[in-house]
Amino acid sequence: CGIVGYIGQQDTKEVLLNGLEKLEYRGYDSAGISVLNDKGVHLFKVKGRIAALRDEVDESVDATMGIGHTRWATHGAPSVENAHPHQSVSGRFTLVHNGVIENYVALRNEYLHDVELKSETDTEVIVQLVEKLNDQYHDVAKAFREAVRLLDGSYAIALMDEQNSDQIYVAKNKSPLLVGLGNDGFNVVSSDSLAMLQVTNRFVELMDKEVVMVRRDKVQILDLDGNEVEREPFTAEVDASDMEKGTYPHFMLKEIDEQPLVIRKIVQEYRNEQDQIKLDTDIRQAMLDTDRVYIIAAGTSYHAGLVGKQMIEKLANVPVEVHVASEFSYNMPLLSEKPLFIFISQSGETADSRSVLVQVKKMGHPALTVTNVPGSTLSRESDYTLHLHAGPEIAVASTKAYTAQISVLAILAVDTARAKGIELDFDPLQELAIVSSAMETLCDQKEEIEKIASDFLETTRNAFFIGRGIDYYVSQEGALKLKEISYIQAEGFAGGELKHGTIALIEDGTPVFALATQENVNYSIRANVQEVVARGANACIISMEGLDQENDTFVVPKVHELLAPLVSVVPMQLIAYYAALHRDCDVDKPRNLAKSVTVE
Ligand code: G6P
Repeated sequence: CGIVGYIGQQDTKEVLLNGLEKLEYRGYDSAGISVLNDKGVHLFKVKGRIAALRDEVDESVDATMGIGHTRWATHGAPSVENAHPHQSVSGRFTLVHNGVIENYVALRNEYLHDVELKSETDTEVIVQLVEKLNDQYHDVAKAFREAVRLLDGSYAIALMDEQNSDQIYVAKNKSPLLVGLGNDGFNVVSSDSLAMLQVTNRFVELMDKEVVMVRRDKVQILDLDGNEVEREPFTAEVDASDMEKGTYPHFMLKEIDEQPLVIRKIVQEYRNEQDQIKLDTDIRQAMLDTDRVYIIAAGTSYHAGLVGKQMIEKLANVPVEVHVASEFSYNMPLLSEKPLFIFISQSGETADSRSVLVQVKKMGHPALTVTNVPGSTLSRESDYTLHLHAGPEIAVASTKAYTAQISVLAILAVDTARAKGIELDFDPLQELAIVSSAMETLCDQKEEIEKIASDFLETTRNAFFIGRGIDYYVSQEGALKLKEISYIQAEGFAGGELKHGTIALIEDGTPVFALATQENVNYSIRANVQEVVARGANACIISMEGLDQENDTFVVPKVHELLAPLVSVVPMQLIAYYAALHRDCDVDKPRNLAKSVTVE
């Protein structure tokens, strides 16, 4: 979910709607804004996207203060009732919330037994609680602080009081939230800096359990005991124009096409004047000091982590475990003596990953975040950050962040190897430059790849992706891309494991995509292809130049074997894109998903 707030002289509803459009990547199943003017609070909510909310909002309402929300449902289905802002019984208070209140049932039973709740959300409990406590204290600031004190769980909250048009009340714990500073009599609240770049690029970071009073000309940060906290603002260095899709029909296609440029940018950013790797010496030392790296991530970033493990182990000889954040969080394995945690996260905001970070920091372990958003929560809260330099990624299905993550991990792996004195015949900067050209060639082959999508996926309900070694990890990513945007059930399997169960699902015509980019398994993966073809599968072999054989469906240009995922994933991304397009799916905003999941 994403939240915004505005107080100032501009057209409030427009600032809020623009901000929400930029935050839509955090969820888009329902949305709402409430604005305040001398006639009182005006509340607009819809089930659906911000575009629908725009249609719903009364053009004629002028206001100088407001809050807004775009939702990714947790408690309660997407509906107008469950959409934010939520209003207290009297209508005096309205509130937006991102996060999950874990003790909301207990709070409802203890404090709100006589209140008839209008929604099924945990959020409504907060706004009703504020009203209850205000009835008791007759002091809204105190009621807000005391309500916040009672909350267990994660929250970023903005509250508006109909009887006070001078301030928005804000609080945060675990969920991301920033206050943006305007130059002339306005201030904003936002889940991230991107949403408000059009009005300001100066932001103040908020810490957990802080309460903030946002006025037109002042931002007052308090701890839960009411003590004032001073904090310097930072400048967000993002170009707002990077967030437009220009002539592209979809952000996903634009972002796929940007990959060659992103790789070149990474080479440039991580190269010093002697053409050697440029890396923070503290990160190098952390890699030398550790006896085991634990990579923590979710979704596509987890898949990049799997490839990263291969590179760090094979090149730098450091053992690596890769864990899905949501599992690690509740089921921590035995740790080595000197663990180093590497968090991989495009957004730097994924709550599952952050939950692990908080735990391991408490245990005193060092943490490095590899992210596309340097000012993000994970980046701020870990000891070190490696930046992906991929530019804003907007499409929900991650593409350029995945290839950027693998590239940066390759650089880290080689840097560690060199620092350990390991001789390598592998210059990642040179090899990545070759990858960049190979990617360009692939981006020029869209027609051919679109035809593969038509030939193999036009009518199917399911599809399998197989590979061995590093190709196995890419097949998992290929399957994820396809399922998340085309809704074709797709799974990635280790080529050799398919025959131990899943092969039962192969029928006449079932599409099986096989990757063959690794010399040591080129023979065995092809044997696995024969096994499925013998059972009726429609096999699509994607191989790498040099390892290709007659009748392979598609051949990617030759690059260093360890970097093969960077090129083999491109046809996978494009196949998924065209399959989704042919099925009339919403490529950039697939159903049920959010780009950045800020709840655990
Ligand atoms: C969500 C997105 C995925 C993404 C994952 C991790 O589930 O839909 O595309 O890979 O979060 O996001 P992160 O920002 O941490 O890389």
